Amino acid sequence: MKRVPEPELMDSEEQTLAYAHADFEESNSLFTREFLERFEGLAGSGSMADLGCGPGDIAIRLANALPGWQVTGIDAGENMLRRAREHPGYPAVADRVSFHLAYLPDPTLQAGGWNALVSNSLLHHLPDPQVLWNSIGQLAADGAAVQVMDLVRPESKLAATDLVDRYADGAPEILREDFYNSLLAAYTVEEVTQQLEQARLDSLRVETVSDRHWLVSGTL
Ligand SMILES: C[S@@+](CC[C@H](N)C(=O)[O-])C[C@H]1O[C@@H](n2cnc3c(N)ncnc32)[C@H](O)[C@@H]1O
Repeated sequence: MKRVPEPELMDSEEQTLAYAHADFEESNSLFTREFLERFEGLAGSGSMADLGCGPGDIAIRLANALPGWQVTGIDAGENMLRRAREHPGYPAVADRVSFHLAYLPDPTLQAGGWNALVSNSLLHHLPDPQVLWNSIGQLAADGAAVQVMDLVRPESKLAATDLVDRYADGAPEILREDFYNSLLAAYTVEEVTQQLEQARLDSLRVETVSDRHWLVSGTL
């Protein structure tokens, strides 16, 4: 199926509220678990950026799991970042987690300054996927741990509808629609492989980690 792009930013009151209250337990715990398993020997302290952090749940989960780390959630949506600061888990980690407004690519972000870079579900929003891969190359310190996860574009609109029915049954219509549009805008594993080659991020590998997600990981 041909890719159908969706709007880059999701920052309306209605959309950010629905997204912040959605149940992403399964995918956010998958992301966190994969990171902690893949980078088991990670240093006891360091700085991490979560690119396109949205309402901050993954940044907060990782901060809880890595008590010596400073985590910065970066997003271009002001309303989204307000939701992140309202996350019920934020006060407990607010001394180590900050949320920063920036539209990628952003040359003012500290180049080469981050020991870990993570991103979930940002790539399919970007009109130019190299914005994410180039930002990772720009921001990574030597030896930085990188993990990026996103949806796999299904083979047909019917297959996308099946996934929405399976995983967003009973969810508000705005979230079901968002999930469907995200599946149509997502990249395939083959496309991501080509993007990594083009960005010359040779040490990063992509693999399928669920019936609807691919995951890129490695050390730069
Ligand atoms: C689908 S949400 C994912 C949020 C979060 N990572 C998660 O897993 O729940 C994508 C986020 O990327 C942000 N975004 C899109 N384009 C961006 C860009 N060029 N720079 C920074 N953030 C961007 C949007 O505002 C949105 O919050």
